[in-house]
Amino acid sequence: MILVTGGAGFIGSNFVIDWLAQSDEPIINLDKLTYAGNLQNLASLEGDSRHVFVRGDIGDAGLVARLLAEHRPRAVLNFAAESHVDRSIHGPEDFIQTNIVGTFHLLEAVRAYWNTLEAEARTAFRFLHVSTDEVYGSLEKDAPAFTETHRYEPNSPYSASKAASDHLVRAYHHTYGLPVLTTNCSNNYGPYHFPEKLIPLVIHNALAGKPLPVYGDGQQIRDWLYVKDHCSAIRRVLEAGRPGETYNIGGWNEKPNIEIVHTVCARLDELQPKADGSSYATQIAFVKDRPGHDRRYAIDASKIERELGWRPAETFDTGIRKTVRWYLANQDWVGAVTSGSYRAWVGKHYEAGQ
Ligand code: NAD
Ligand code: TYD
Repeated sequence: MILVTGGAGFIGSNFVIDWLAQSDEPIINLDKLTYAGNLQNLASLEGDSRHVFVRGDIGDAGLVARLLAEHRPRAVLNFAAESHVDRSIHGPEDFIQTNIVGTFHLLEAVRAYWNTLEAEARTAFRFLHVSTDEVYGSLEKDAPAFTETHRYEPNSPYSASKAASDHLVRAYHHTYGLPVLTTNCSNNYGPYHFPEKLIPLVIHNALAGKPLPVYGDGQQIRDWLYVKDHCSAIRRVLEAGRPGETYNIGGWNEKPNIEIVHTVCARLDELQPKADGSSYATQIAFVKDRPGHDRRYAIDASKIERELGWRPAETFDTGIRKTVRWYLANQDWVGAVTSGSYRAWVGKHYEAGQ
């Protein structure tokens, strides 16, 4: 079996669902259920004995040690993190605690467990750390995309905390020989994306008749990857990645934010036109820029293609269409998140100690 952390969040829950759709190998899912953790994301797995959910902190070394000793996973995949740049600007402390201190405690518990394994299991074991392209900092307009050897130049408390965790993971390989893999991925989008992030926020505000906030001039560029493609890349890296290596994962979809917002509006105009016949784009509102806003991220994902044969299956056009359709079909999920009632759902469906 494998142990996944942060599997009730956006990418983690997509990963858990996809994993169990492709394999019968069980998953232990350790998640603290912060505001970003939502057990409703995993509702389709209720009653599925292949999925064991445990509420807890990656920084709780005792709990992690117990889980490892009891379930003896062949791999640990670390998705757990504080992930929102704007929140890291308003309050960096949780980012330091979870992303740096938490990852450190997790690594310590994993190292101790790994040392107890028999030779064959030790060699086969993997610690896969899910990171971001934001650790590389901001690119000039015409600069080549980030490769795995690009210098780390994190600019926000979020990216700095992720960079620190990447360095710890690297050091545990170099110093202790722990078989680690690190993936640095670009911006994900798709089902179960918390509506504080750009794409789900725009969909939600558009349908609610609210302004669509575009920071600054909207010309900041991101690379966008459909979340299911990220999940398939992680499965591939886990399967065939070389210990100690890092792999960039991207969608080959560099786009300015304003174009993303216009595309979402166009899909909504097509799939759920406004009663008055006007476009959702009329709701776009340029607002004050994010402090220290990185201008451009771009991922060169040729290493993972060359070495592991992975390429994204979705284009931005196909992925965004699926995403908008998913949000239109899952307004109950959006309503529960935006009203906060998903927290009550957690209380009802989860009993302490489970
Ligand atoms: P998310 O915020 O949606 O989910 C994070 C999950 O981690 C939540 O379920 C939360 O409850 C859990 N968590 C937080 N602190 C924890 C702790 N101390 N112990 C246990 N669980 C804890 O994040 P996401 O967007 O799903 O991102 C997952 C990972 O992927 C993160 O490491 C993030 O840095 C990375 N990443 C995200 C993106 C993106 O576009 N969302 C892109 C590249 C990399
Ligand atoms: P976000 O989804 O927060 O991801 P990240 O900051 O990790 O890239 O933001 C994506 C881009 O969209 C980023 O350049 C900030 C911008 N943005 C807006 O213009 N308006 C918004 O309301 C949000 C949330 C983000």
